[in-house]
Amino acid sequence: MNKAPRLRRSASSPPPEGADAARERPVAASTEQAKDIARSSSRDAMRLLWRLAGPEWRSVAVGTAWLVLAALLDALGPLLGKHFIDEYLIPGRFDNLAAMGLLLAGIFISGSAASLVRYAQLARMAGIAKRAVLRLREQVYAHVLQLPMRFFDTQITGALVSRVTNDTEAVNQLYRQALYVMLDSTIVILGLLAAMAWLDWRLMLIVAVLAPAMVGIILVYQRLSSPAVAQARALKSDINAQLAENLAGMAVLQASGAAGRFGARFAAHNEQHYGARLKDLRANAWLLRPLLDFLNVLLMVALIQGFASRSMGAIEVGLLYAFLAYLARVTEPLINITLQFGQLQQSLIAAARVDVLLREPCPLPPQGDAPRMSAGHLQLDAVRAGYGDGPDVLQPLSIDIPPGSLIGLVGHTGSGKSTLLGLLLRFYAPRGGSIRVDGLDLAELAEGPLRLDLALVPQEPQLLAASCWDNLRMGRAELSEAQLVAAARAAHLHDVLAALPQGYDSLLGEGGIMLSTGQKQLLAMARALAGSPKILLLDEATANIDSATEIRLSEALAELRGRVTVIAVAHRLSTIRDADRILVLHHGQLVEQGPHEALMAIEGGVYQRLVQLQQLAGDEA
Ligand SMILES: Nc1ncnc2c1ncn2[C@@H]1O[C@H](COP(=O)(O)OP(=O)(O)OP(=O)(O)O)[C@@H](O)[C@H]1O
Ligand SMILES: [Mg+2]
Repeated sequence: MNKAPRLRRSASSPPPEGADAARERPVAASTEQAKDIARSSSRDAMRLLWRLAGPEWRSVAVGTAWLVLAALLDALGPLLGKHFIDEYLIPGRFDNLAAMGLLLAGIFISGSAASLVRYAQLARMAGIAKRAVLRLREQVYAHVLQLPMRFFDTQITGALVSRVTNDTEAVNQLYRQALYVMLDSTIVILGLLAAMAWLDWRLMLIVAVLAPAMVGIILVYQRLSSPAVAQARALKSDINAQLAENLAGMAVLQASGAAGRFGARFAAHNEQHYGARLKDLRANAWLLRPLLDFLNVLLMVALIQGFASRSMGAIEVGLLYAFLAYLARVTEPLINITLQFGQLQQSLIAAARVDVLLREPCPLPPQGDAPRMSAGHLQLDAVRAGYGDGPDVLQPLSIDIPPGSLIGLVGHTGSGKSTLLGLLLRFYAPRGGSIRVDGLDLAELAEGPLRLDLALVPQEPQLLAASCWDNLRMGRAELSEAQLVAAARAAHLHDVLAALPQGYDSLLGEGGIMLSTGQKQLLAMARALAGSPKILLLDEATANIDSATEIRLSEALAELRGRVTVIAVAHRLSTIRDADRILVLHHGQLVEQGPHEALMAIEGGVYQRLVQLQQLAGDEA
């Protein structure tokens, strides 16, 4: 399948003609998505966060209990102070020094104990956050691996990477900072309110008016800054995406001299991101802060009014002290809560994005007891296929391929060859008709065995940054080393691998040994053969390789004859000249089929023309 190129193509195409174009085009899709997310799924995000923390509820409950204790200790200080002032200081009772000392020590100890308890709970929360995010990342990754191929047709690789890394990290921040601070601050405020109520509930009410006003301000702030925050995140993901694809395609970028233009586009993105962040910061600086300060002043005035309207006996100096102390303590957590709102919003939006990804439906292929193929007899009956809402790229197609036959698949570019292979690989479901293997519906074959029984040698094989063993095994744990070596031998690759510095243990791919394109092709062949497939699909496996490698591949194929059903897409027609049957696709239709000689005999036929064109090219070369 030409999967990898398609991903890159969709992301980088076509380079805009300058900075202005760059400014307009880039973010439409993801920013639209961001708006959707900001609008609708706060609640879904909450649900996701709830689900993630679920397994830790015991720890959360214990931590909350400790925080309540810390809040009580906090509230205790001013009470002791009031007692100290009213009972001892004002009346001038300095006779009971022990009791006074005890009170002062109590004030000190309650304060430090509260700090210690908080510190321990912060550490606990960090642990919970780490584990929750670990679970989230595992879930997201596992989910992405199972998504159907059509999902990736519409995705930009870097944006996906950003969701799995950045967005899940934001969720970590959420647990560790935002939620912790909000929980702690809320408990502290409640504790202080309770203590104030105990001292004088009417004065407490004055302070309590603050809460709804605060909520009002925060709601307004949220409404104003939410789109900006969502946009900033989407833009950040775009920036990541662009970086990822530019790094991946560096050779093309430099070779085509487009580095400058892409740089301008990147700068434009960055500027947009900065602008969006600035909008948010402005809302914070111009709205949130001044309003909060104003509230605080109002509160002071109200409290002093409240005291002034009471008879101010000497006995109440302690009470005044306690209230002022509580007031000082209550504003800090309130501000903390509001400060965390920015973080909370960012994280909720990130969580919503992750949630949207997790909700992407992935129809689970049949597992376990589902049947598996026995011989590799393929029957296609009136199969139609297409992508997205586009037109059919395969017209009703009916073919019967007996087990063990070697089938060539040819046709002009875009005629639907890879599409047909994609159907057989179950990457896409047919729009109509049926695909049967050994009389069983392809869709009902068990997934595990299918990936051994049906193998693909793609046009652009990918190396994993891992050992030769891992590269051959590709996660199929059931394959033994003996099987892997046998496959490497069958693909004529064994000598190459055995000659590497550490033999089969050598690291390949990025950071390891790079193989030539031809060697990679042989590796892909060995990979496919390792599972002892019943059906082998080759998508232009011989397109990029030299004649020597082609001969090796052809030999490997010849050895499979009669045992394995092989469908080989080939541009180089010489590779499939000996095929039992050659299928010729033209604009998604099967226009000719038969052995080479029969097809050559069709005057003016598509196959005959293809061969003639190739001979012409060959003669010129
Ligand atoms: N992922 C996709 N999304 C949308 N359209 C696609 C996708 N893949 C292929 N197509 C379209 O389907 C048609 C058939 O493409 P396909 O890749 O099957 O051609 P092909 O015969 O393999 O061509 P080539 O010889 O160049 O590899 C083309 O018109 C192509 O644009
Ligand atoms: Mg193709």
